[in-house]
Amino acid sequence: MKQTKPITLSFVLLWVLLSIFSTLAIPTRDSNTFAVPLGVPNAKKSPNPPSYAILPVKTPAVPVGTPPKIVYLQVDTGSGSTIVLPPYNSSLSRTAKKEPANDTTLPFLGGLKISGHYVRDVFRIGSITIRDHKFLAGTNVSQEAPGNGILGLGIRTQIPDGETIGAPLLGIQLVKGGGGQILFGGIDYSKIIGSITYEKQSVEDQWIIPIKLAFTFGVELPKNSSIESNRPIESSALIDSGSTVVYVDNGLADAFYQTIPGYNISTDGYYTIPCDVEVSTLPVVKVIINNQEFPIPRADLVFEPTQNDPKQCVGGIQGGQPNPQLWILGDTFMQNYYLIFDRGEGQIGVAKRSDVKYDDH
Ligand SMILES: *[C@@H]1O[C@H](CO)[C@@H](O)[C@H](O)[C@H]1NC(C)=O
Ligand SMILES: *[C@@H]1O[C@H](CO)[C@@H](O)[C@H](O)[C@H]1NC(C)=O
Ligand SMILES: *[C@@H]1O[C@H](CO)[C@@H](O)[C@H](O)[C@H]1NC(C)=O
Ligand SMILES: *[C@@H]1O[C@H](CO)[C@@H](O)[C@H](O)[C@H]1NC(C)=O
Ligand SMILES: *[C@@H]1O[C@H](CO)[C@@H](O)[C@H](O)[C@H]1NC(C)=O
Repeated sequence: MKQTKPITLSFVLLWVLLSIFSTLAIPTRDSNTFAVPLGVPNAKKSPNPPSYAILPVKTPAVPVGTPPKIVYLQVDTGSGSTIVLPPYNSSLSRTAKKEPANDTTLPFLGGLKISGHYVRDVFRIGSITIRDHKFLAGTNVSQEAPGNGILGLGIRTQIPDGETIGAPLLGIQLVKGGGGQILFGGIDYSKIIGSITYEKQSVEDQWIIPIKLAFTFGVELPKNSSIESNRPIESSALIDSGSTVVYVDNGLADAFYQTIPGYNISTDGYYTIPCDVEVSTLPVVKVIINNQEFPIPRADLVFEPTQNDPKQCVGGIQGGQPNPQLWILGDTFMQNYYLIFDRGEGQIGVAKRSDVKYDDH
């Protein structure tokens, strides 16, 4: 999750999305999903067949503690910490062990602050039981928080441990508007078309990889524009299921929106596009990973209407990243591709999805 940045979009929009997903039922093992052959490229040979876990990707229900309390957590590949809020209460769990640290406060976007203490307790991810998993048991929340906390899937979180499951990797299929699955320990090839492109992470302990962004504009750009059609710009990006859109630096976002007729900046600082824009007139945005192109469908550049002006929609690309060398690829990108977070090899894999319709260019 994008923490304490000038733009509060991630959390605000996240909250909107969560209200849609709050009706999620407790996940069950889906026998159809288990029937497909699951690839386990790095699996160790083991006398016991590997066990897998599949969770719905948005706010899965996770039993925590003894007796188990069900909490609905936001899956967050950008967060190294897991946070669990009430109804979990560590004082009421027989298996909870309080860590010998002082209470901690973690700041988030939109002014949200969660304080509490670190504990270790039993965590269940689908069919996997993780004993003594360390997380922040949040007891005081400054404002309404997303769901019952965050399932941090940053590299150091050890959820789940590679020894417990098939391979130390996660396969994530995030579906636009909700749904999708996260597979712990394998790759669900039934969700993929074509080959997988891998790129090594560029920052240790974070799901950050080198990427390029390239734009194809249907309009002529101003002479002094800092961007050009089809000239890729290099940077790195955090692949972050805890962010709703794509965040770049302000300079790039500004140059991008200069090319969109009717763009505006909302009172709370987001770039907006007229909701009724003819989508085919929008620029083509391509994420380039290891020389392969992964376009973002143009419809995804137009997100939800703003609160103050229902005719203007929040754009799927926003500024606000202080460092031009670190962007964030949130749901706007992730909902169009299958992502493999491969802890064992220190790399991220990206593949086209069988359930996504891509634009013709
Ligand atoms: C807790 O806070 C006190 C006072 O700030 C400090 O002296 C102590 O070292 C802290 N303990 C831990 C375990 O961090
Ligand atoms: C947890 O349970 C204890 C014991 O019933 C209670 O005193 C405490 O207020 C509860 N904490 C929260 C955050 O609800
Ligand atoms: C809980 O958080 C609020 C707002 O951040 C703060 O005013 C209050 O003192 C906190 N309460 C406790 C018990 O820490
Ligand atoms: C380009 O020039 C126009 C008009 O002179 C100016 O308004 C705009 O801010 C300039 N843009 C950049 C990126 O320098
Ligand atoms: C742009 O947004 C501002 C509020 O941020 C508003 O006052 C202004 O009327 C908008 N401009 C257009 C052309 O919609």
